[in-house]
Amino acid sequence: MKILPGPASKELGERIASFLGVEPTPVFFKAFPDGESYVRIEGLVEGETAVIVQTTSPPQDQRLIQLALMVDAAKRNNAETVVAVVPYLAYARQDKVFLKGEPISIEAIARMLKAAGVDSLITVNIHEKNVLAKFPFPARNLSAIPLLAEHFKQRGFRDAFALAPDKGAVGIVQEAAKVLGCECGYLEKHRDRYTGLVSVEKREFNVKGRTAIIFDDIISTGGTIVAAATLLYELGAAEVYAACVHPLLVGEAEKRLREAGVKEVIGTDSVPSHVSKVSLAPLIAQALRELQSG
Ligand code: R5P
Repeated sequence: MKILPGPASKELGERIASFLGVEPTPVFFKAFPDGESYVRIEGLVEGETAVIVQTTSPPQDQRLIQLALMVDAAKRNNAETVVAVVPYLAYARQDKVFLKGEPISIEAIARMLKAAGVDSLITVNIHEKNVLAKFPFPARNLSAIPLLAEHFKQRGFRDAFALAPDKGAVGIVQEAAKVLGCECGYLEKHRDRYTGLVSVEKREFNVKGRTAIIFDDIISTGGTIVAAATLLYELGAAEVYAACVHPLLVGEAEKRLREAGVKEVIGTDSVPSHVSKVSLAPLIAQALRELQSG
């Protein structure tokens, strides 16, 4: 098995290789003056399982193209099988037609990856895991929530209240609460499909004077966490933390979170940033070991 860290996940790819006790296979990358991507695999993959590690957080389109180019290069260099490890899989939130005339973006992306030569895919906390059944190759979804919850447990947050900011994150918060051994709850969220504005239904939770942790798959603009944190403080929470697998943190998201009183954001290296305090490397390395042993 050869581990090829793509330009978007260089450190994560190297950490995965180190967990597996193998040397990473370098991939050279540059951008042409007009912006087009160039990649070159600087090692042998012939007859091997080539594992390409490339997240597709912003700039999503460029990173998807780089991924497709690396997959093509691996196939051309006679890799036996190409496994795409894509911790954050872009376009996964457009998993159905919400408004007439829209595409199902994630299905189009999966077909594009198949055409490039992907044989199987591993992703982490995809927004809706049922979409994987429609992919034209085997695809596995891993959960990083136990790792995130363990991070808080190690810091002594056992009496915290864990909150899912919407119904879609109920499974996530239940997983976290199990590790932390704490109480949990969820909110009903509404997002205006045209303006993107988020509102949450008022609910009562026993959070007075307590620490609360909001768990979600993605923090993008921060609107969801801001709405949930505001309610928690209205209910008397002492401190509110936010944890997510994919800290996209676009634009002024961090500023908005700070202004809403969120004490700290903890994310994973699915999307490398200064909040990526939890690494996915052990989780992905274990999935690759299982893949290898059939
Ligand atoms: C959507 O349902 C997701 O689980 C996240 O809650 C959402 O993507 C977060 O986006 P934002 O930070 O822009 O509210």
